[in-house]
Order: sequence, then C-alpha cells, then structure tokens
Amino acid sequence: MCGIIIDKIKNVVFFLLFVNIISGQDVVTEQARKNIRVCDYCTCSEIPNEDATHLVLNIQCSELDRIENLPDLDKIEWPDNPNALKISATFEGLGLSTLGKLPANGQVESLKFNNNAIKAYWPDPFTDVPNLRKLSFAQNDLTEITPDLFTNIPNLQDLNFSYNKLTSFNPLDFKSLHNVKRFNLQSNLLKKIPVDALQPMKALEDLDLSKNGIYDLLLQKSDVDTLSAVKRLSLNGNRIRSVIKDSFPVNNSLELLDLSNNIIEVVEEDAFLTCTNLKELNLGQNNITFVFSLPPSLQIFIVKQNTLRRWPKFPKGITYVDISYNKLSELYSKLYSSDFENLEVLNIAGNQLTELHFASKLSNLYSLDVSYNLLEEIPTSLNSQNFPNLEELRLDGNPITSIYFKEILAVKSLYMNELSKLLSVEDKAFSNVIGKAVEDSEPCFSLFISNCHSLYEIHEGAFDGTSVCMLDISSNNLTRLSRSLLDWARVSEGVNLQWNPWDCGCHLQWFLDELLPRMYKTQSRLLAQLRCETPRAVQGLRLVHWYNWTGEVLCSEQFMNPGERGGYSLSPMTEREGNFLSNPSSLTLILGGCIIVALLVAIALSIYLVRGRRRYRVRQAALKRKRQSAIDARNSSGQQKEQYSALNKV
Ligand SMILES: *[C@@H]1O[C@H](CO)[C@@H](O)[C@H](O)[C@H]1NC(C)=O
Ligand SMILES: *[C@@H]1O[C@H](CO)[C@@H](O)[C@H](O)[C@H]1NC(C)=O
Ligand SMILES: *[C@@H]1O[C@H](CO)[C@@H](O)[C@H](O)[C@H]1NC(C)=O
Ligand SMILES: *[C@@H]1O[C@H](CO)[C@@H](O)[C@H](O)[C@H]1NC(C)=O
Ligand SMILES: *[C@@H]1O[C@H](CO)[C@@H](O)[C@H](O)[C@H]1NC(C)=O
Repeated sequence: MCGIIIDKIKNVVFFLLFVNIISGQDVVTEQARKNIRVCDYCTCSEIPNEDATHLVLNIQCSELDRIENLPDLDKIEWPDNPNALKISATFEGLGLSTLGKLPANGQVESLKFNNNAIKAYWPDPFTDVPNLRKLSFAQNDLTEITPDLFTNIPNLQDLNFSYNKLTSFNPLDFKSLHNVKRFNLQSNLLKKIPVDALQPMKALEDLDLSKNGIYDLLLQKSDVDTLSAVKRLSLNGNRIRSVIKDSFPVNNSLELLDLSNNIIEVVEEDAFLTCTNLKELNLGQNNITFVFSLPPSLQIFIVKQNTLRRWPKFPKGITYVDISYNKLSELYSKLYSSDFENLEVLNIAGNQLTELHFASKLSNLYSLDVSYNLLEEIPTSLNSQNFPNLEELRLDGNPITSIYFKEILAVKSLYMNELSKLLSVEDKAFSNVIGKAVEDSEPCFSLFISNCHSLYEIHEGAFDGTSVCMLDISSNNLTRLSRSLLDWARVSEGVNLQWNPWDCGCHLQWFLDELLPRMYKTQSRLLAQLRCETPRAVQGLRLVHWYNWTGEVLCSEQFMNPGERGGYSLSPMTEREGNFLSNPSSLTLILGGCIIVALLVAIALSIYLVRGRRRYRVRQAALKRKRQSAIDARNSSGQQKEQYSALNKV
C-alpha cells in the first residue's frame, strides 16, 4: 500500500521535474532568441551628458522606435561600449506598464522612464546597475513604492517621481538613499510632507513638492535633524493655510522657498525668522492680510495677489520686491526709506495708490511698475534725481487724464498703455523724458501708448526736445498725425500706428512719402493693420495700398477716381453725384432723370433678350448632347466606357 503511494509520489515528482526541465529549457532558448539589442532599435550616440561634464553613450528610445517584445525591458542587451563611457538611457513614451529587472552594467549612470504607464516593477530592478546616479519616473502611474526599488544604488543623486499618483510614503522607503541631492515629487497626490520618509536623505538640497494636496506646512520633527540641508523647497500649488513659527526646523538651510498658490491666510509674526539663510521667498497668490517679519538675509520677496494693506518692513539687502495686486493705498513710510538702498526692481502695480511721494533716492532701481493704480497725473517724484538708474517705467492703466513729466526723467522704456481717461497728449508732454544712450548712440527711449481708446490727438509739440527710438501708438482713436511730431528718420526701431481710425487725406501724404517706404522694407508687419477709416470711399483700405504710387495720391484731384490698380470704384459715383447735386437746376434734374430712366429700360431690355437667346441655345445644345450620348452608348463597348469614365475622373 505504502509502496504504491510512494511510487505514485515518485512519479508525480519525476513528472514535475521533467516539466520543469522542459520549460526551463524553453525559457533559456526564448531568452536567447528574444534578447533585444537596444541600439538596433533606438538612437545611440556619444554626446556630452546633461550637465556637459563628460561624454556619455546616450541611448534614446521613444515612441517613434518600433520595439517589439519589450514589455518589461528585462530582455534588453546593453550595447558594446568600446570606449567604456558612462551610459545614459531614456525609454520614453513606450507604453511600459511594468518595469523588469535591468541587465547588469556598471557603466549605467542615468535612466529615464518618462511618460510611460508604469504601475509596478519587479523586485530589485536596479541591483545590477549599481552606479546609477539619475533616475526618473516622471509621468507614470505609480501609486506607491517599496524600499527594494532602490536596492544597491546608494550613489543615486537625482530622483524624479513627478506626475505620478503617489499618495504617501513609508518611513523606510528611502532608507538607503543617503546621497540624493535633488528630489522631484511635483504633481502627485501627497497630503502631507513626507518628513519621516525623507529622513535618510541627509544630502537633499532641492525638494519639489509643488502641486500636491499638502495642507500642513510642518517640516520640523522634534529631536531629529530633518531636511536640514534643503536649500530650495517648492510647495507651490498646495492647500496650505498657515505658516507658523514651528513650520521650519531651527537650523535649516533654506535659501529659496516657494509657497505661492496656496490658501495661506495666517502668517505668524516670526514664522520665517528661523530661516536665517533665506534669500528668496515667494508668497504670491495667497490670502495674506497682515504683515510679518522678514528674515535679514532676504533679497527677493514676492507677495503678489494677496490682500496686504500695509507694507512689511524690509531687510537692508532687499533687491527685488513684487507686492503687486494687494490693497495698499499708500507708498511705504518715510521711516522705511533707508531699507531700499539696494532695491533694483519694485512692482506695486494693481494697488490703490493715488500718489507717489518717494521720500528718498532709490539709486539702484532699474525697473518700476506702478500700473493699474489710481494715479491721475504723472507723479513729480518720478524723476532722475530719485531714480538715477531707472530703465523701465510702467504707468499702464491709471486714470491719467493729462501727461506731463514735470521733471527730468531718463529711461529706456516707458509704458503708458490702457489710459482710458486720456483724450489728448499735449505739447511738451514728454519734453522732460530723455532716453538712455546705448554705447555711442544718441540717447532715445521707447514709448508705448497703446489701447487708450479715447486718445484722439497728439499735439505736434508733444516730443519737443526729446528723441524716441520706438513709438507704439496702436489701438488708440487717432485720425491724424503731424509730420513734425518727431524726427521720423531717427525712430529706428519702428512706429506702430495700427488699429487707429486714420483719416486718409492730404495731411497724411507725408506718411506715404517718408515713413511707408522705410517701413515697407524693414517693418512690414507694422503695415498689416494700418488702415484708413475715413473717407468712406476708402474705409478699411490699407495705406500700403498706395506704396510706390507716383505723385501725391492722397492730395490729388484724382485721388477719388478709380486708379488702374482699382479697389475703390465706388468713389467716382459718390463724388460726381455730390458735384451734381450741389448746383441743382430743375431742368438738368429732369433731363438727367429722363436719361437715366431711358438707359435703365434699354439695359433691362437688352439683358432680357440676351438671356432668352442664351437659354434657347443652351437648351438646343443639351438636346443634341443627349441624343449623341444615346448613340454613343449603343455603339461603344464596355471597355471604352471605362476609359472615358477614367478620363472624366482625371
Ligand atoms: C522631472 O521631470 C519633469 C517632467 O518631465 C521635468 O519637468 C523636471 O525638470 C524633472 N526634474 C528634474 C529635477 O530632473
Ligand atoms: C546648527 O547646525 C550647526 C552645523 O551646521 C551646528 O553646529 C549647530 O549646533 C546647530 N544648531 C542647532 C541649534 O541645532
Ligand atoms: C480669501 O479671503 C477672502 C476674504 O477673507 C475670501 O472671500 C476668499 O474666498 C479667500 N480666498 C481663498 C482662495 O481662500
Ligand atoms: C473716437 O473718436 C470718435 C470721433 O472721432 C468718437 O465718436 C468716439 O466716441 C471716440 N471713441 C472713444 C472710445 O472715445
Ligand atoms: C517700388 O519702386 C522701386 C523703384 O521705383 C522699385 O525698385 C520697386 O520694385 C517697387 N516696388 C514695388 C513693390 O512695386
């Protein structure tokens, strides 16, 4: 009994072994057959690496390369590498859903699997590429990871998991990654900063956690030194509500912190004071109402699109301030003036400032934006005494009714677009604005006065004594432009006059003679929408229509006659009718009427006759064709018909 059973078991075991051997052999032969030499399918080249530090053997496989039987990449064969270069490989957009274990190679230093659909991977996928430094899984479907993803790659420095579906990490997930410097977790589904899991990354400098669902800013863990090396942290586009004193570790290295696009309402007074190395702080697009202390090291401060009503106190080293689109109604107080000695860029657009009394000199400022405030005139404090290094000044969208720069101001570019209350630019408006010389050239400035929908005139003395190198007065309500407004030959960078309702009369002839030929050659894009609005006869016509016409076409009597190049044949009728009616005598009126009626009758009659005759001929021809085709059909063979139909198709 027992013997039989044992025998049976033996048989079964033997059978199983046999099956195993057979299938094992199968696997071996299959492997031999299916090994894929990547360079047969993908692009392989020797090029400098991304940081241009050394040459690499670059393998680029993308959706364009038709690779079959490549489900998991485990069957690939690394290329011969006679020069023993480091290998950088990219497998992009191949539709991979699982990643296999990569074959052994000590030269592989960078691997990218971007834009696939990877959800899972075999155990220890990278154990045989131990010198990996860069790894990217950007744009895949990972929902979680396990520590064995990083087995045997202790030198990894760059890790990119952006655009996946990761929700959280376990404390041991990154336990072997002590050398990672840059870690990108942008656009995942994290709800918390994974402080515990990041603990082993002692060398981490760049951490991107933007566009997740993080609601709590807590980087600090009691007793341990977490994230102490991080210099650049982005938390842009999360759900953070508050920044408190305990948000940051006591001894942090943060230099750049991006908290823009959250819903922060509360910032504790001393919340940022632990960030003693902070240089750049972005708090744009939040809901911050009350000011708070800024660390003394700060240089760049962005707090646009919040609800601040007061100015914060800035540290001495500040160079860049963007406090646009808040609720400020006054300029910073005189007490703070000395803090701005190093300021280079100041953006206070979109506030509620009615005046600008700059109490002191901002000697390093080169860009000032005060657009979309409530300024009704040009503030006198905007002058070169206060701003000796100003290059760019923006005054767009203020309710300015009249332009006059009372004091000397030197700039390179001046923007005054969308001044909806501006009707007219008076004489001497810009006489005190002087340009800045570039190298040896004469000083001149670029001026933008566009989209001022009520602006209908610019007085010819507006630029007396100054020099403009670019003038944009497009999309205004201008009908005329004086020839003596500017020395047009010196407006070297173009004049944009488009989208104005120009009155094309003799007073614009100078434009055809002087400006048009020059613009035609070098700035023809500025002629596309340069059109006449009046007189009616030429409404909508481009001025470039008259390019190269001889004589003073806009002044001549013949201006309204149809030229040989046509285009407005309506004009002679209206013109002559006008003359005719202006000295009416009843006799000529009646006579004219009779002639017109007689003419009309004659025309109608002749049209009718011609039409009738044509209709008759058409009918005859049709009948004839019908008869002929009936005969043809009877006579011709099928082959011929085919030929004809083929010809017809052609
Ligand atoms: C990570 O991948 C994203 C998406 O491809 C890319 O924009 C980003 O630059 C990468 N970041 C790093 C640090 O390599
Ligand atoms: C801060 O870090 C430095 C070294 O980077 C260390 O010497 C110092 O003790 C730390 N201070 C605190 C309060 O942890
Ligand atoms: C910002 O605050 C205002 C009023 O305090 C509120 O109406 C608004 O919804 C808030 N915005 C956000 C994005 O929370
Ligand atoms: C532009 O000027 C015309 C008259 O030339 C005037 O009727 C029109 O209202 C003006 N448009 C605006 C927006 O002021
Ligand atoms: C305009 O006239 C000049 C010389 O009179 C000629 O060389 C040029 O070809 C003309 N251009 C056009 C577009 O007719």
